Amino acid sequence: MVVSDPRLPSGGARALRVRHPRIREHPDRLDRSDQDPNGTRTEEWREPTRRTPVGFPLTRSGPRPRAPRVSLIKLWSKCCLQDTMFAYGCWIANNRPLFREPTMKYEPKNFDRLLGTQGFSDTLLNNHFTLYKGYVTNTNKAAEILDTLLKEGKLATPEYAELSRRFGWEFNGMRLHEYYFDNMVKGGARLDAGSSLTTLIAREFGSHETWEKDFRGTGAMRGIGWTALYYDAHGDHLFNVWINEHDTGHLSGCAPLLIMDVFEHAFITDYQLKRADYIEAFFKAINWTTVGSRFKAAAK
Ligand SMILES: [Fe+2]
Repeated sequence: MVVSDPRLPSGGARALRVRHPRIREHPDRLDRSDQDPNGTRTEEWREPTRRTPVGFPLTRSGPRPRAPRVSLIKLWSKCCLQDTMFAYGCWIANNRPLFREPTMKYEPKNFDRLLGTQGFSDTLLNNHFTLYKGYVTNTNKAAEILDTLLKEGKLATPEYAELSRRFGWEFNGMRLHEYYFDNMVKGGARLDAGSSLTTLIAREFGSHETWEKDFRGTGAMRGIGWTALYYDAHGDHLFNVWINEHDTGHLSGCAPLLIMDVFEHAFITDYQLKRADYIEAFFKAINWTTVGSRFKAAAK
């Protein structure tokens, strides 16, 4: 509250600050605009310009207020209720499908049986297994995100478009590695000379040696990718094909019988740039029993 002092000359009346019981007096709070040039008393309360935060009252009349009584029983009950609600929330989070960890669509296969294969160091193989598991993880992630975008109706988004394009790359990176490791075994396994696949190879390429020459030559091409022996059940033909990266060059409707990885990570640890030496080691580790089984399944 501000009043003027009539004893002071008019026009220069100084505003006297009257202590308000709720506001601590502070020199910074003195507002020069409160001066009343007419020296007339005014009861109008003028809110002083706040240059500092409102302080706490220094004086208080009446008895000192007592701290509110806290019922220990009520406090204990409140804590128990909060604990119960927290536990219930945790139970919901762990059991409701909405909050569950997404179910993995694919699990990485274990190919440790290949450790010790002649021509392949354990370091190379273990690094290769780790890389393969990355494709499995990314395939699951891509599938999950695409599923979420579909449910949210975000089909016309760059994320949906780019991830849809990438999905085949991740998936084939996973599946081709599984074909590759599956058609290898320690010491190798020969192709049965009397099998139907042997007969078909001879018919398609003239001889097994010619087929092998073509397969090795395809794998030795510059670039990174895969070499595959495909069987086209529709036309009953065999093809050696180059697959660029993981996703370019596959033959639609054909069954992959033999897969060879010719990415640099498949051999550079043991053979540096000598890809032909790696291919030689791979041929010694081919499991022709598995290749024959794939052919039988595709030819049915
Ligand atoms: Fe690979």
